Formats: sequence, C-alpha cells, structure tokens
Amino acid sequence: MFSNMKITDNKFVYIQLKDYIKSMILKGLLRADEKLPSSREMASMLNVSRNTVMYAYEFLQDEGFVYIKKGKGTFVSDIKVSVEEKWNIDWEDEINSYGKLSEKLDIIKHETKWQKGMISFKSIAPDEKLFNIEEFKKSFLNRMSLEGEKVLNYGYAKGYKYLIEYLLKYMENKGVDIEGKDILITNGFTEGFDLVLTCLTNKGDNILCENPTHNTAIKIMKLHGLNIKGVQIGKKGVDLQELEKKLKRDKYKISYFIPSYHNPTGIVMSPENRAKLYNVLKNYNVPIIEDGFNEELRYSGTHVLPIAALSGKGNSVIYIGSFSKVLFPGIRIGWILSDKVLTGYLESIKRARNIHTSSLDQAVFYDYLKSGSFHKYIRKARKIYREKYEFALECAQKYIPSREILGEGGMHIFIKLKNIDSRQLLEKCCERKVIFTPGDIFYVDDRGRDTLRLGFSRVSEDNIERGFKIIGEEIEKLGGTI
Ligand SMILES: Cc1ncc(COP(=O)(O)O)c(C=O)c1O
Repeated sequence: MFSNMKITDNKFVYIQLKDYIKSMILKGLLRADEKLPSSREMASMLNVSRNTVMYAYEFLQDEGFVYIKKGKGTFVSDIKVSVEEKWNIDWEDEINSYGKLSEKLDIIKHETKWQKGMISFKSIAPDEKLFNIEEFKKSFLNRMSLEGEKVLNYGYAKGYKYLIEYLLKYMENKGVDIEGKDILITNGFTEGFDLVLTCLTNKGDNILCENPTHNTAIKIMKLHGLNIKGVQIGKKGVDLQELEKKLKRDKYKISYFIPSYHNPTGIVMSPENRAKLYNVLKNYNVPIIEDGFNEELRYSGTHVLPIAALSGKGNSVIYIGSFSKVLFPGIRIGWILSDKVLTGYLESIKRARNIHTSSLDQAVFYDYLKSGSFHKYIRKARKIYREKYEFALECAQKYIPSREILGEGGMHIFIKLKNIDSRQLLEKCCERKVIFTPGDIFYVDDRGRDTLRLGFSRVSEDNIERGFKIIGEEIEKLGGTI
C-alpha cells in the first residue's frame, strides 16, 4: 500500500508522506489502532531517510491522526470517518439578486478571452517588464527588518500612518488644500468607489457620470441600484450644456468624473472645463467623486490641477487615487481623500468590510515611494508609454478607418467607427487572432456599438502595427473606408 506512494520533487518528502497517510486514514483505508510500519521499514520501502519518516509521524501525532506508544510503534488514531447521506443544494437557486447581477456584469467571464498566439488590445494594465523589482525587493527587506513584527500584526482601518502622511503631502503637491481633510487607504480605486457609494447613496438615487465611463464603475453603480445618468464626452470633455440640462431636470445625489486620461476615451479635461464643471455642480449642490487614477501619466503640457484642487478649503470633492496604472496594480493600493467627518464614516465601513488593507503591502509600498524609486520609475514609464502612445496613434491614423480617434495619453486610444458594429468587427478580428474591447461596455445606455478601445501598454510596437492593420482590413471588408 505504501510502496504505491509517488514522491515528487516539489514538496518536502516528510510533508508528502504525512499527507499520504492522512488521506488513507480519511478514506478509511487505514483503520483505528492499526500499526503503521516502523520508521525503518517505511524508510526502506520508500527509499527515504528514517528521519524523514519519524518527522512525518511526529506531525501526524501533533495533528491527532496517529498515536505513538513508546517501544511499541505508531498506531492510527480512532478518527470517526463517516460520510452521511449525500446532501446537495442547488446553489443556482440560492443566489440572491446581487450575486446574479455581479455575475451578469462580470465582463472578464463573458467577453472574448485571450488565447495563446493572439494580439490583445484589451488590457490597459501596466507593462510588467518596466517594474523595477530589485528596488521593490530592497523596500520589502528594509521594512521587514525595521518593523516586520508590527506590520504582520493587525493594523489600523484608516491605513498605515506613514503612507497616509506621504499621500497627504503628495496631494498637497498636486495643489489640493488638505485642511479639514483626511485619507483612507483602500484596496485600489475599486474598493474606494464602492465604500463611498456604500456610505452616501441609497438604492434608486440618481448619479451623474460621463458617458462612456469606466466599466468597473458602471458595475459598482449598478450593484448599488443607482440610477445612472450619463453625460456625453467629446474631444473637449464633458458636454456642459447637457450636464446643466440634466441637473435642471432631476435631483442628483452625487456625481463621478474622470478628468485625466478618461477611461475609455483618453480625454483630458482642460483646466477651464474643470472649473466650469465644478461650478455647475456647485450651483446644484451635487458632490463630486473625482477619479484621479491616471493623472501621473501626463506626456506633455503643463500640470493640470485636479478638480479637488479647485475647491480649495471646500469639502465637496471626494478624490479617489490609485497606483494601479502608474505603479503596481497587483498590490491593490488606492486612497480616498475626503472631508474628515466623511473619512470617519468611510473608516468604519472599511473596518466592517475587511478590517484594513494589508499593512505589509502598505509599508513596503511607502518605503518604495519615499526611497525615490517611484520618481525614477515614473520618468522611465512616462517616456516609454509616450513613445508607444505616439506610435499607436500614428498606426491608428494610418490603418484604421474611423469617424474619430480619441486619446491624449494614458495607455489606450478610443475609436469611433463609421457605421460599423464593433462586436461584428471583433468576431472577424478574433478569427485572425486579434482582440480588443468593444466600446459598448463603457456606455451607461445602449450606445457605443460603433466604438472600440485599444489598449497598447503591453503590446510590442511590431504587434501594434500588425494588429491595427488587421483591424483596419476587417473594417474595410465590413464596408468602412478611411
Ligand atoms: C477609470 C479608472 N479608474 C481607476 C482604475 C484603477 O482601479 P484599481 O485601483 O481598483 O485597480 C482604473 C483601471 O483601469 C480605471 O480605468
């Protein structure tokens, strides 16, 4: 029986032996009080050392699966292994409306998937080849040696103190007046947005946003049961007349805007339009959630102040930041800068939900930020992404027949086609191993069937050119012209 055990290289042998014996006991193949082979016999049967076997037996004893009688040997404990009559629940029937809607809106599950050999323009994640792992490793070791014990224990719901202080200064350097405001560290923008909506909105409330907008934000707004009202966004940014019309007609609880490198259009709202937007919403007393996720990827021109900076000492703008595009999305760190009273409530919701964001991650991240590595990295990343962006734009203009190409930076461009259905186009391109994100998923209504988003951050220049050519050829076959 034991000689059938297959030993592999990827795990300690004593753990493999312990797990093997355990599974035999649980399956009822070894009975209570049955004597196991002596360590000498087992070692020779498996061709391993006696120490390995003794170690495995000791662990089994610690876990209560065997007992050792001095001078007599090792015996199987009396573990009641009885499988009751099968009890199955049809979980499909049990899922509530929140679960059902989450699944329905889960585009990762339902949209065209990448397969080996495909050129994918779906992602707008950073290119991991740019990450400076060595510097991050240094920060990890540094924090572990300085305060390893502390950061491995529970921390504060609001976040790791030094990171909060760093980010307050960081926001001040963006021109934001932080008096009367505070920061809550979150698991990226996504959690931040969810926390703010949880804290401030009720099912059925009206919310204003750009149309199109960030698909994850749409999903979260829908899951909160909000009435989403989109305002068109064009080359100059949000259509302020349409915005005012909407504000005159209905009452809004809150609004959500992405003023820099908007997803999916890549449009940057001008300083004048930011001020106008702020003033219109101020007149109607509708607070603003500002998504500052991509601000750092400015490729040219002067710094544009976030809307949060326009409000000075005012507290009506809730700024949500994230390092997911500028640095590492895998670390899931974002923050909410908001009025102190509001932060207090957000902190309690955060604590109720998940206690806090990983202190270890926050501490290492803080070390990395303050070491200067971040600034070095951002200079390098900006240069590389700018070159890619310029190349992608050039290729799009050359190869893709379109009504309009939008995007002033960031990691993607947005294309409006001339009467071509982008889903039909996707099907054709997929046959030629090129995929992209159909634009309709970014719309809060049924528009956008003639649009698509092309993310280029992780695609080589060769593949950008090859892929865009294929997209262009398929558009022509469907009847589109330059
Ligand atoms: C508009 C927008 N905001 C924020 C984010 C970042 O979200 P997170 O910080 O949760 O990764 C993204 C990522 O694509 C985005 O497109």
